Amino acid sequence: MSQVVLKDIKKTFNGKDVIPQINLTIPSGSFTVLVGPSGCGKSTTLRMIAGLEHPSSGEIRIDGQKVNQVDPGKRDIAMVFQNYALYPTMTVKENIEFGLKNRKVPRAEREEMVREMAETVGLTDYLSRKPSELSGGQRQRVALARAMVKKPKVFLMDEPLSNLDAQLRQQMRFELMELHQKLKTTFIYVTHDQVEAMSLGDQIVIMNKGNIQQAATPMDVYHKPANIFVAQFIGSPPMNIFSADQLGIGVNRTTKIGIRPESMKLHYGDETSSSKESCYIQGTIVAREMLGSETLYYINSSIGRFAVKSHEEEQVINGTRVQVEVPFDSLHSFDENEVRLREGVR
Ligand SMILES: Nc1ncnc2c1ncn2[C@@H]1O[C@H](COP(=O)(O)OP(=O)(O)O)[C@@H](O)[C@H]1O
Ligand SMILES: [Mg+2]
Repeated sequence: MSQVVLKDIKKTFNGKDVIPQINLTIPSGSFTVLVGPSGCGKSTTLRMIAGLEHPSSGEIRIDGQKVNQVDPGKRDIAMVFQNYALYPTMTVKENIEFGLKNRKVPRAEREEMVREMAETVGLTDYLSRKPSELSGGQRQRVALARAMVKKPKVFLMDEPLSNLDAQLRQQMRFELMELHQKLKTTFIYVTHDQVEAMSLGDQIVIMNKGNIQQAATPMDVYHKPANIFVAQFIGSPPMNIFSADQLGIGVNRTTKIGIRPESMKLHYGDETSSSKESCYIQGTIVAREMLGSETLYYINSSIGRFAVKSHEEEQVINGTRVQVEVPFDSLHSFDENEVRLREGVR
């Protein structure tokens, strides 16, 4: 187990600040996920931790030791990419064993390490097969096993599941969580997929344009997003944002009000008036999306278009007039810089 610290890290490519300055502590034994839109600097950050890229300034520490000048091979880390390549002519066993042989680990010890790792990832029955005789998920497991067998201090993964179909991806997510629980190694995982980040991470680091927007637990980024970017990046569809003036609520420095589609409720028929607990927005349903267990309604109103997620399946047609209930206790309040305000709305 190992803590990773990025201190005042800056990265410039061709005179352009790709990462202006980040500070981040990745707790020992955590499953930390770096998430953000394409091009925001996730891979660059991971590659600097791996030693494949050098920071323009700042310090990287693994277990308290500054590693800026330490070669990738000497950092005691392992990495798996999206396009992991297995050696096609080698068996599963030989693939997993390869790095150990290179390190001149004695044969008996090697055998034991491979056996143990194969069991951890469920490949015991496949050790004599070639990669071409495996399914996509099994190949992915070989790539994980090959990286993990060296018992690295830190395990880095860059979008390792992107090439798999949705069902397999879900299964592999579960397996990764199990693997993490068994090994208790520090995992650092990069993805652009917020659902993947929320389901895997115990710490989520949300990045945008080379800056860290928030580093917190999945619960906190969902319930207490640090700013409007995070509020809209996490959750699907994104949080609805209204101007406080238009909604006629908000105190002090509140300029924007956010509410999640799943926190709003549709009412039909009679006019409803505001109470202590909630206010109502009048609108018209303009589109509906069936998601299975939930239904998404798109509403047009005088304060703009927004989405409502409901568990009730209503027999409504487009054009139906609705009163949308907005409970005050589920509102998020943001200041003029789009930063979350603690004091809430009322
Ligand atoms: N070797 C490089 N040379 C020049 N620019 C680069 C290099 N690597 C990454 N970049 C730029 O840095 C930014 C961040 O890239 P990257 O870290 O790959 O983003 P992400 O992984 O979040 O999609 C992008 O604008 C990308 O074009
Ligand atoms: Mg990337």
